[in-house]
Amino acid sequence: MSAILVVDDERGIRALCNDVLTRAGYEVETVDCAAGALAATARRRFDLVLCDINLPDQDGVSLLPRLLVGEPPPAVLLITAYPSIDTAVRGMKLGARDYLGKPFSPDELRMVVSRALAEDELRRAHGELTKRLAYGSMIGESPAMQQLRATIDKVAPSDATVLITGDSGTGKELVARALHFAGRRAGRAFVPVNCGALVGTLLDSELFGHVRGAFTGADSAKRGLFVTADGGTLFLDEIGELPIELQPKLLRALQDGEIKPVGGTSAMRVDARVIAATNRPLAEAVRSGLLREDLYYRLAVITIEVPPLRNRREDIGLLARHFAEDAAQRAERGRPEITDAALAHLQAQAWPGNVRELENTIERAVILAAGDVIDVADVAGPRPAAPSPGLSTFAGDHVPTLDELERTHILRVLELCDNQKTKAAAMLGINRTTLWKKLRTYGIEAD
Ligand SMILES: Nc1ncnc2c1ncn2[C@@H]1O[C@H](COP(=O)(O)OP(=O)(O)OP(=O)(O)O)[C@@H](O)[C@H]1O
Ligand SMILES: [Mg+2]
Repeated sequence: MSAILVVDDERGIRALCNDVLTRAGYEVETVDCAAGALAATARRRFDLVLCDINLPDQDGVSLLPRLLVGEPPPAVLLITAYPSIDTAVRGMKLGARDYLGKPFSPDELRMVVSRALAEDELRRAHGELTKRLAYGSMIGESPAMQQLRATIDKVAPSDATVLITGDSGTGKELVARALHFAGRRAGRAFVPVNCGALVGTLLDSELFGHVRGAFTGADSAKRGLFVTADGGTLFLDEIGELPIELQPKLLRALQDGEIKPVGGTSAMRVDARVIAATNRPLAEAVRSGLLREDLYYRLAVITIEVPPLRNRREDIGLLARHFAEDAAQRAERGRPEITDAALAHLQAQAWPGNVRELENTIERAVILAAGDVIDVADVAGPRPAAPSPGLSTFAGDHVPTLDELERTHILRVLELCDNQKTKAAAMLGINRTTLWKKLRTYGIEAD
């Protein structure tokens, strides 16, 4: 039942409001002056306040700021004997929802009140929904995660460019999504792009679009992802991989909100909020000339660092249970139980691959586990080795040769197969003889 406070010095108005609104099912309280209103609102929360503009001790408009307190504040409707646009506008600017001109009919009163309350109801439901979208999938109650959420809350409402840093698998993309869905662009598109996934020319037209005939094969014009993200958010993942020749174009987009499609002659305006992420220190890329310094500073206006999992071990239990339930549901298994010993083992690991590695470990455990109980043996097995070079990015600046890649890959598959040659050969798509030959060539122990 919504609670309503009526503030009016006219006895007749108070009686009318009380009668009409009580019969409409509201809980009503009435007072006859500003001091009475403040006393009442200090005592309890109201969903709506009907407040006369002409009160004996203070005028209703100047009282507004003191009525609009609490979380959430009440909807305030002004009552005025002289419904002048001026007063109404002043009141609305100060946060009043609507106004009622005296005299008003019971019908008018009921309508204005129920409309204001319905609006609030909708707004609350919408707020909760977007909050759930933003944070729903983000697990963790550690101080580090609470701080991260607080930072997101602070940064989300603005349009500022944000740089998200953190090791691989820490949840950078999740943070980017949270920033989008907690902000005012939540209703528009969130568009992720991996800057390392495409070579320069392709990435150029992917991001900025191209005109028809811009290059061989460009049979039709294409709008770029910047345009797709217009009004929304463009998430530039692995920004450190952005080819140097595209960097001035991105800088211009950030500074002037202007992009130029490949082959195009004129620039067009876009309104996309840019969020970038990197898992390696960008300062280093700047030093080695891979990233323009001006772009770096423009991107890093606000930097959010996502802590590695080993710095928030308190979250490991929550995350593990969440991933276990998720995986079990997908595998159509029962609700899994993680033994205390298994949990202790998980909490003691270093997790170089962070949350993603934990997620993979749990998923694997759910599949391996006997029944619905996940024990130490299920989570302590050989974990998938670090990705071999070439499958993602190279470590340092050493570019492996094909032979090196092949050797590393064979070793990794052998490890995955517990050194069973037949299985490894099958996995590699070659026959046993070929595998033996390769093992000899690469000097891999063939025990
Ligand atoms: N706090 C969290 N709660 C629940 N799931 C999480 C959390 N953090 C990360 N994850 C999950 O872990 C996986 C990796 O997260 P994400 O892709 O956001 O990491 P990343 O930092 O972008 O990694 P990379 O640097 O490798 O791109 C995803 O499946 C994501 O849903
Ligand atoms: Mg990522």
